[in-house]
Amino acid sequence: MKRRTLIVGAAAGALGLGWVLRPREGGADHAPYFLQLSAALDEAGLAKPSLVIDRERLLENVRTLMGHIDGRFHYRIVAKSLPSLQLLDTVMQASGSNRLMLFHQPFINQVASRYPQADVLLGKPMPVAAAHNFYRQFGGGGFQPQRQLRWLLDTPERVAQYDELARNLDHVMQACIELDVGLHRGGVRSDEQLLAMLEMIEASPNLHFCGFMGYEPHVVKVPIGEAITYRDRAMDLYRHYIHVARGYLGERWPQDVVLNAGGSPTYQLYDRGDFPMNELAAGSCLVKPTDFDLPTLADQVPASYIATPVLKRLDSLEIPGIDLGPIQSLWNPNRARTFFTYGGYWKAKPESPPGLLNNALFGRSTNQEMLNGSRNINLEPDDWIFFRPTQSEFVFLQFGDIAVYEQGRISQRWPVFAEQPA
Ligand SMILES: Cc1ncc(COP(=O)(O)O)c(C=O)c1O
Repeated sequence: MKRRTLIVGAAAGALGLGWVLRPREGGADHAPYFLQLSAALDEAGLAKPSLVIDRERLLENVRTLMGHIDGRFHYRIVAKSLPSLQLLDTVMQASGSNRLMLFHQPFINQVASRYPQADVLLGKPMPVAAAHNFYRQFGGGGFQPQRQLRWLLDTPERVAQYDELARNLDHVMQACIELDVGLHRGGVRSDEQLLAMLEMIEASPNLHFCGFMGYEPHVVKVPIGEAITYRDRAMDLYRHYIHVARGYLGERWPQDVVLNAGGSPTYQLYDRGDFPMNELAAGSCLVKPTDFDLPTLADQVPASYIATPVLKRLDSLEIPGIDLGPIQSLWNPNRARTFFTYGGYWKAKPESPPGLLNNALFGRSTNQEMLNGSRNINLEPDDWIFFRPTQSEFVFLQFGDIAVYEQGRISQRWPVFAEQPA
């Protein structure tokens, strides 16, 4: 055989192989769940990007969570991941918990005025000026910050700042100490540091030591099979610091001490065994954004979606300039059609109809986003596309009132937390 024939043959073979290996067509129309949800959104007159919570799935997730915790710990609701008073209300009622974890000063004020019975623990240390702003904006009422608000303190310097604020305001402030149990995101890292902080708190007439917070999400980020080792290491550190503090405080160890740990990714690791904390925090797992598609949360179901209308449909893919669109759709049958959506570029992944793809060549847009799909996807303008948020805390705040989906219809609208106090 001639050399040229060989080269041509090899090239044709490679092309043929490439053709065989090209992506398979995967698109489909909405499954019945999303068709019904679309009908509910239409019936409610919605016609803009909207955050939807499926209330029945949310409640199922609360039951799953409480089943794991099984009365062995208190449950603390992570409010930043469920950023709406009505959403929190639903979870508080379903779980029977009044313990909330908050991370943002304006939201603490909103919770304090709405839930006089709440027990609030900060999930991160706040600049002392933010704490001051809380008291400035606090409108009084049943909520008693001196008993029900636990500030998180991470260093002796911050203890000194809060001590000064508490003295100036002539207020009693509850002080919870942040422990580093392996995450290395700050908090106490040595006995000396812990003892220095306890000594300062003890010396202050206005600060009351109320417990520890030791967050350990790193435990599920380590190589598979190591999680239990890392969990046990984190718990040994937690136990150690409790031992040191109890040794120092003796009788003064608080009766109603708060010993907080856990988060959505880890809370199921404490189903069995003896652990030093007395409460577990979790929030995201109740709405389950895609970042929480984890083996440790396999039994919790997605309960939140972004729904947005289709504005335009094209039966081709066209890209301005050197038009590689036809080649893209020839190569990938999941790029045969083009849809433009109302808004886009959220921290979210397309969920339904299945098989929708972003197009990096065309680019992303927060105004009208291009999505490509196969010929099996028969969306028309005004139909709905659904995404799953990758996380809840920031994404949920971008759509105005949450649309609550229940028994086939949009039953309520839940305002989200406001940046400014009401
Ligand atoms: C201190 C603390 N505890 C718990 C959580 C868990 O929150 P979620 O359950 O929403 O992941 C977080 C999340 O950032 C956190 O910072």
